[in-house]
Amino acid sequence: MGNKYLKLSEFTIEGKFLGFLQEKREKNRYLQLQIESGNVEIKLPKNLRPVVSESLIPGEEIRVLGISKLHSQTGKIKLKAQQVSPISEGENQKKLAPTKAKILVCQKSSCRKRGGQGLLSEIEKTLCDRGLEELVEIKRTGCLKHCNSAPNCVFQVGKKQYRKMHPEAIVNILLQENNSTISQNTNNCAEKNIS
Ligand code: FES
Repeated sequence: MGNKYLKLSEFTIEGKFLGFLQEKREKNRYLQLQIESGNVEIKLPKNLRPVVSESLIPGEEIRVLGISKLHSQTGKIKLKAQQVSPISEGENQKKLAPTKAKILVCQKSSCRKRGGQGLLSEIEKTLCDRGLEELVEIKRTGCLKHCNSAPNCVFQVGKKQYRKMHPEAIVNILLQENNSTISQNTNNCAEKNIS
């Protein structure tokens, strides 16, 4: 429980279940998932470990919902599962097309009243300042059905989906996803983002 970890966002990741990380300490603590950008390790809470180990077969396509946390000193992101489920064949077929990163920012009344427009401008400015705007499509949307936690945005990268992202957290994930290809441009973004 260290306070060095800051909650970043909720996430949904889909990929191929590879098995569990082999550890001496505790069994089945981390599951390994193969996704487009490589392999990721996701920590399983104790109550999920027996169920997951008994029900999942390596090679199976699964969906993991959970929370991502950022280590305040190392900048490392940890993923912790809250729910794990297999993806049915039918669902899989629909999701084969590759997807560009997307940010959906709710601009409906509850979110607008609670800073939705400011959030949109801040995301646009932050991405532009970092020269990352080409990598993401930003969309204004209607209600995202999470009005209680307004202002809302959803960040989608490949099969991963994060909610309630701070703009800097979006930058962190984009940089990780595109590691070697990004140069830190300093653009003239200020004028673009005045709304
Ligand atoms: S109004 Fe924004 S999530 Fe409902």
